[in-house]
Amino acid sequence: MTDELKNPGAMLKPTDVQGMFDRITPRYDLMNRLMTGGRDVAWRQEAARIAIGSGAERALDVATGTGDLALELRRQGVPDVTGLDFSGEMIASANAKRQTRGVSGVTFLQGDAMNMPFPDGSFDALTIAWGLRNLPDYQAGIREMSRVLRPEGRLVILEMTPLQNKTLRNAFNLYFHNVVPMLGGLVSGDREAYRYLPDSVGAFPPADELAGMMRATNLRNVRYKLIGGGTVALHIGIRD
Ligand SMILES: C[S@@+](CC[C@H](N)C(=O)[O-])C[C@H]1O[C@@H](n2cnc3c(N)ncnc32)[C@H](O)[C@@H]1O
Repeated sequence: MTDELKNPGAMLKPTDVQGMFDRITPRYDLMNRLMTGGRDVAWRQEAARIAIGSGAERALDVATGTGDLALELRRQGVPDVTGLDFSGEMIASANAKRQTRGVSGVTFLQGDAMNMPFPDGSFDALTIAWGLRNLPDYQAGIREMSRVLRPEGRLVILEMTPLQNKTLRNAFNLYFHNVVPMLGGLVSGDREAYRYLPDSVGAFPPADELAGMMRATNLRNVRYKLIGGGTVALHIGIRD
C-alpha cells in the first residue's frame, strides 16, 4: 500500500485511515444508523438495484466495511459477490455477519482498492459506498475500479456530497461538525474518526466534478442523483 496522497481531500495517509477504521469497527453499524436516522439501509438498497440493472452474475463491493452493501447485492440476486476492504477488523466483522445470517455466495477479502487482486474485466457490477472519499487519489481509484469491470459493466458510487445550497450547507455543517463528532465520541469512543468524516466530506469534489472524473476514465452515460436531502450522491457510469 502506498502512503502517497494525490488528492487535496485526503487528510490522512492510507495506513492511518486503515488504523482508524480498524478501531471504529465494533460500533460502525450503530453509528451509521444513528447518523442517518437509518436511511443508509435504503440508500444501499438503491445503489445495489441500480448496479445490478437488468442482471449481474459477478459483483464487487469495494471498501465494503462491515459488508452491508455486498450482502445487499447478494440479497437482490447476484449469485457471486466479493467484498473488498483493507481493514482486517472490518473484513472480520463482515465475515461474522455473513456467517450469522447463513449467507452463501459472498466472499470477503482484505485488499487495497488502489491495487486490487483481480484481472481486468472480472465483474459485471461494482459498487463503492462511502469509500471513495477515503482513497489517496480519487481519479486513480476510479480508474482501478473501471479496470476490473467488464465492458458494459456498471459502476455505482454512493458518497457524501457537499450540499449545493449555501444556507442548507451551513445548517448541515453545524450538525455534521459538532453533533456527529460528539456522538462518535460517545458511541464509538473515537471522536477524531468522526471529526475526520465531516472534514473529508468538505474536501470531496461536488457531484458534477466527480461525474467529470468518471467521464475522464473509460466510463460513459455518467449521471447522478442527489438523495438524503442533497447530502448524498449516487453516481452511475457504464464501462466502455
Ligand atoms: C465509511 S466506510 C464504508 C463501509 C461500507 N462501504 C458501508 O457502506 O458502510 C469506508 C471503508 O473504506 C475502507 N477503505 C478506505 N480506504 C481503502 C483502501 N485504500 N482500500 C480498501 N478499503 C479502503 C475502510 O477500511 C472502511 O471500511
